[in-house]
Amino acid sequence: MAELREVIRRVAVSDVTVLVTGESGSGKELVARNLHALSERCGRPFVAVNCAALSPGVLESELFGHGRGSFTGAVQSHAGLFEQADGGTLFLDEISEIAPFVQAKLLRVLQDRQVRRMGAETVRRVDLRVVAATNANLEKRVADASFRMDLFYRLSVVEIHVASLRERIEDMFDFIDHFFVTRGLATPRLAERTRELLMRYRWPGNIRELQNELERVLAFYPKVSEVQPSMLSGRVTRDPGNGPIDIDVLYQTKLPRAVSYLEENLLRKSLEQNNWNKSRAARQLGLSRQGLLKKIKRYGIDPPPPPDE
Ligand SMILES: Nc1ncnc2c1ncn2[C@@H]1O[C@H](COP(=O)(O)OP(=O)(O)OP(=O)(O)O)[C@@H](O)[C@H]1O
Ligand SMILES: [Mg+2]
Repeated sequence: MAELREVIRRVAVSDVTVLVTGESGSGKELVARNLHALSERCGRPFVAVNCAALSPGVLESELFGHGRGSFTGAVQSHAGLFEQADGGTLFLDEISEIAPFVQAKLLRVLQDRQVRRMGAETVRRVDLRVVAATNANLEKRVADASFRMDLFYRLSVVEIHVASLRERIEDMFDFIDHFFVTRGLATPRLAERTRELLMRYRWPGNIRELQNELERVLAFYPKVSEVQPSMLSGRVTRDPGNGPIDIDVLYQTKLPRAVSYLEENLLRKSLEQNNWNKSRAARQLGLSRQGLLKKIKRYGIDPPPPPDE
């Protein structure tokens, strides 16, 4: 986080186009908003558009605006988002999803810094900073020709990559504190097993998912002083061990914990591979069936619930 904050601070003051990459829920929009807030453009608008949410035609008219009578129903001329963001920052979210003809128009605006409303004769100069974000691998899109290479280079003058929560799990407890502090609450203690579960979970939804998990704890246990594993959602308590073992987590854990982490992980993997047939799993692990059953009980390992009807 400290590194990310420093990069944002340095890049914000320059006017370069920035591409923010990272998994869903990792905080890309927050980075874009911070780039704006820390720039000289902070007194001017920050305009965000989700490129995946609009059909190509609508996105085109939203971005570039349209002149009067440019299409049936266009009774009034309309300033596009480029004009609305003039002086400020335009945030293009999910940029990977934009259709080829809109890519071409976008490239032209980025190069010439002027927009022509659809169906209009005249062009208008715009002075703005563009920040784009994606959770897709844009280089791959360029390689398979679904994203223009020239546009990719224009957008990614500077690339800021936001690491996934599992890659920076050491930030998690700071975030948890932040969560409670911003709500005017004291951070509850976390039972050791709770800490462990939180650290091992893979957090596919990143900070957003963690935030939701904390909201959930708070909703059910508003006065909690120590968060117990049973207070976490099944997703978090059930999943651990299914993912690859994270060596960084192991290194941050005391030896007995690290060993049991490894042990539980192996048990779960073997049970899964053997369709929860305990005799076969025991054989694979080199344990007696009795021995395996004991360990299953110790770790509280349950077979996954049947899929929803
Ligand atoms: N470092 C952080 N500190 C506090 N809150 C954060 C941080 N990073 C992300 N968040 C919060 O997590 C949530 C998700 O962040 P954001 O919307 O920026 O993610 P995103 O990468 O744009 O996600 P998506 O790809 O799904 O659009 C937001 O509520 C945001 O405020
Ligand atoms: Mg977003």
